[in-house]
Amino acid sequence: MKDDTVTSDPRHDSAIKHVTGRAEYTDDIPEPAGTLHAYLGLSTRAHARIRKLDLAAVKTAPGVVGVLTEEDIPGENDVSPTGLNDEPVFATGKVEFWGQPMFAVVAETRDAARRAAQQAVIAYEDLPHVLDAAEARAADYPYVTAPLKLERGDVAPALRTAPHRLSGQMRVGGQDHMYLEGHIAFAIPGEDEDVIVHSSTQHPSEAQHMVAKVLGVNSHAVTVNVRRMGGGFGGKETQMNLFCAVAAIAAKKWRCAVKIRPDRDDDMSATGKRHDFVIDYDVGFDEAGRITAVEGQFAARCGFSADLSGPVTDRALFHADNAYYYPNVRLTSHPMKTNSVSNTAFRGFGGPQGVIAAERMIEEIAYALGKDTLDVRRANFYGTDDRNLTPYHQTVEDNIMPRIVDELEANADYRARREAVLAYNASGGILRKGIALTPVKFGISFTATWYNQAGSLVHVYNDGSIALNHGGTEMGQGLNTKVAQIAADAFGVDFSRVKITRTTTEKVPNTSATAASSGSDLNGMAALDGCEQIKARLIEFAAEKWQAKPDTVRFADNQVHIGSEAVPFADFIKQAYMARVQLSAAGFYKTPKIHWDRASGKGRPFYYFAYGAACSEVTIDTLTGEYQLDRTDILHDVGRSLNPQLDIGQIEGAFIQGMGWLTTEELWWDDEGQLRTHAPSTYKIPLASDRPRVFNVALPEWSENRENTIKRSKAVGEPPFMLGISVFEALSMAVASVADYKTCPRLDAPATPECVLMAVERLREGRADVSG
Ligand code: MTE
Ligand code: HPA
Ligand code: MOS
Repeated sequence: MKDDTVTSDPRHDSAIKHVTGRAEYTDDIPEPAGTLHAYLGLSTRAHARIRKLDLAAVKTAPGVVGVLTEEDIPGENDVSPTGLNDEPVFATGKVEFWGQPMFAVVAETRDAARRAAQQAVIAYEDLPHVLDAAEARAADYPYVTAPLKLERGDVAPALRTAPHRLSGQMRVGGQDHMYLEGHIAFAIPGEDEDVIVHSSTQHPSEAQHMVAKVLGVNSHAVTVNVRRMGGGFGGKETQMNLFCAVAAIAAKKWRCAVKIRPDRDDDMSATGKRHDFVIDYDVGFDEAGRITAVEGQFAARCGFSADLSGPVTDRALFHADNAYYYPNVRLTSHPMKTNSVSNTAFRGFGGPQGVIAAERMIEEIAYALGKDTLDVRRANFYGTDDRNLTPYHQTVEDNIMPRIVDELEANADYRARREAVLAYNASGGILRKGIALTPVKFGISFTATWYNQAGSLVHVYNDGSIALNHGGTEMGQGLNTKVAQIAADAFGVDFSRVKITRTTTEKVPNTSATAASSGSDLNGMAALDGCEQIKARLIEFAAEKWQAKPDTVRFADNQVHIGSEAVPFADFIKQAYMARVQLSAAGFYKTPKIHWDRASGKGRPFYYFAYGAACSEVTIDTLTGEYQLDRTDILHDVGRSLNPQLDIGQIEGAFIQGMGWLTTEELWWDDEGQLRTHAPSTYKIPLASDRPRVFNVALPEWSENRENTIKRSKAVGEPPFMLGISVFEALSMAVASVADYKTCPRLDAPATPECVLMAVERLREGRADVSG
């Protein structure tokens, strides 16, 4: 297999275009003459009845063509992805968060529309609002969707009889996606009911179905196209529906092309983010640090509507074990309704919030027993033949965590460096160091089982070039490159012979979101299926024409080998065309083996697990709380890599994004419910200078997926995000040093410099029991 095209490691097919500015995004598509621009009018209350919405001044503002309100929606006023009908395009009667769209204005220029949107005169009658999850639980606010419970064993007695028992609370912050390209939709009306929407969405099929719903037309009238996104990170899985809907309604109403692109401030205020959580845990353990029982309550700030909060909070529970076996366990989700923007998918999809709870419990145990956190981790890893049942009753069959951690521990020289860190801190200076080695195990598959399907459309043109379409979308992760590699490999031709065109609902119908890291698993297999169908016809043709046995036909080196003969691929295809061989196929794939019964909390939601570990070392300044990341070593499992360059890029990016979530990225709402961190000036993502001074990323060469995935690879998009937890825990250790590691610092996330400083002070004053 080593000589496959698939292991030839080409760079991202758009790499040069990305860095030279020639990659085309939705906003770069040439606008037809007369293109109009829409802008949203947003609410300035967290929860209020709308007494009056006076748009007279908006309508007469310079350049304005008209306004859109609920009355202009020909179909349903709803873009909720759940079928719960809880997410209007335009608020009617009342607003439920600060930043909720109430109307849109359409003008000749974007600037005119943006200015006009400010002219609305709105009278509100304030209603009480609840902003965060803890407040919502205390106020008995409703759930946005049904909670989940995962249970195994007998928790209460196990906790009661545990040799040691600890409980605590952890607050874990949310995160803005900060994609470089924001939300955008560009609609072009066609004849009859038709409309074409170009957009930057991870889920073209859902956008298509939503546009059809708001227009009150069939899905076949709506086409959604996506060439690429300038980043999505989950933020464009559902949140683009609204923009597509508004652009399409306006385009049909005025019979003009209409574009909508919010400013960054409005994008950040009006679209959902990662869910912040309040986690209550109660853990029993023995002298050796082995966990005997866990009880966990996971409350999430979901916002005003359900959106994806059900599956997000489910995934938090699915990952609250991380890599550890809990003999007795009960985990409960609390998807709380709040008067804030509806939170949504974000890389890891709730998983990171679950994993960090597991790691907090490990820390608690280690500090309580005076042990190295790594020793406590090892004592609790899932076994291979026993101790391998998850809280959702799936058996872990592919556990390679011990080997990953052994190798990383050795390669990063963890033990010796930990000793050096302890010695450094023992000298009692202002600067303190911390080091932590944390693992991640992440379940791969959509937990909504039906989502695990994909289609492709493969054409071989009679010049021997190949055009490939699949249902996945390109957001920078390199999906198109990987799928093109798979097709090139299948036909034994150069990568350059394969072109992947934009994603469009016209070519592959009913696709799933490109999400859950499953893009290459699903679409790679669907593409391969399409290629194999064409190859089967070509083999039949070759066998007949050259009077050879079918099993002697091979596709390699840009040639078709038939017995001892070799025909250049293009010549061969020309002959096949002349012989009227069908050179096009629709491929399909569905993930085998998975099933999930949410009511009983049992099943096999995941086809397999991806594993990884990171070791990070930090230095903090105990006078200011500032810190720097000195070194990170990562060993992350991608099975047999489809493309090591792309995979390493994904691991580096995910790690940095995960670190940002836990360190500097802080979302802050004021008491009125207005998001005050709504621009890069107040919301700090990691800079190039925040990356680890030494950064070693490796793939375990020996790993291959034991399941029959595409080329035995594993999904890579989300799992390494959680490797950022190593930085958070290293910070925690540095803080703990000021009180001689006697108490667990219980840092909340994000551990901004301010929080680190407060934790240092708290520990120095012996106020260990308070988290913050
Ligand atoms: N990488 C880049 N460059 N940009 C992105 O928006 N999104 C991440 C991850 N890596 C993202 C990314 C998320 S949230 C997911 S689910 C996966 O990519 C989706 O793509 P895949 O399934 O093809 O890995
Ligand atoms: N992950 C990401 N996106 C999703 C999922 C999931 O498990 N389910 C529905 N959308
Ligand atoms: Mo990724 S959060 O599943 O788009």
